[in-house]
Amino acid sequence: MEIDGAVIIITGAGSGIGAATAQAANAAGAHLVLVGRRQERIAAVAEELRAARPDRSPLAIPADVTDSSDLHALVGRTLDEHGRIDVLINNAGQGFCSLVADTDLDLYRRILEVNLLAPLATMQKVLPSMRRCGRGSIINVSSGASLGVSPTTGAYSSTKAALNQLTAVARAELAPEGITVSLIHPYLTESEFNQALLGGDPILAPAVAPQHSAAYVAGSIMDLIRSGDAVTVLRPA
Ligand SMILES: NC(=O)c1ccc[n+]([C@@H]2O[C@H](COP(=O)([O-])OP(=O)(O)OC[C@H]3O[C@@H](n4cnc5c(N)ncnc54)[C@H](OP(=O)(O)O)[C@@H]3O)[C@@H](O)[C@H]2O)c1
Repeated sequence: MEIDGAVIIITGAGSGIGAATAQAANAAGAHLVLVGRRQERIAAVAEELRAARPDRSPLAIPADVTDSSDLHALVGRTLDEHGRIDVLINNAGQGFCSLVADTDLDLYRRILEVNLLAPLATMQKVLPSMRRCGRGSIINVSSGASLGVSPTTGAYSSTKAALNQLTAVARAELAPEGITVSLIHPYLTESEFNQALLGGDPILAPAVAPQHSAAYVAGSIMDLIRSGDAVTVLRPA
């Protein structure tokens, strides 16, 4: 998918990988729709994008991706403005750190909502528009944690492992309609992710290892939109 001129929705665009992806897509000429719960954060990113590319007018739409009526309004407003949706980047996510034996089930349900059900619901919301156009690209942001075994990551990585399978099946189902569904596995990345962790004692969080920059991950997401490859795995820095 060509990025210049594409209408791209990015969830979790107010910080970290989402904000860096917005910068990269803006530089490449996309029409961006920035999504997150904290309005001031997505508005600040939109302001930076406008300053960098005055010929583009990014939308900043506050939404909780676990709220169906927010998703409905998000897609409606995007279509009112642009008439189509070319790319969806399901990037919003929530970390969780706990031993399996101690995992709080209510917190686990919350991260399942954000990391698994919300990407599914958002895909379902954008598909009618993509089907009308006969093309589209969906990028689901998973995690290298879902490819390995590391104590205290079981709940988080299991939500991402389910997203991996959902993405692979969606890819097979939607390819005949010209819609490409891809997956990226970032490794440890500089962002607010570790500050926003839910769950157990923070000392259980994996020790801080060398991290990728959010801009590096964003560049890989740009490559994935262009290539339509099934999966990108970002190796540890
Ligand atoms: N950083 C890493 O080491 C790493 C590694 C592998 C994978 N990942 C994945 O990369 C993605 C981006 O994370 P990040 O590292 O950039 O962390 P981040 O800076 O914490 O970004 C997460 C974003 O998701 C948004 N978000 C969370 N819950 C939401 C909800 N219910 N509705 C709408 N937006 C929501 C947050 O914005 P609001 O709070 O304003 O809503 C925030 O901007 C996540 O899916 C994460 O699992 C990260």
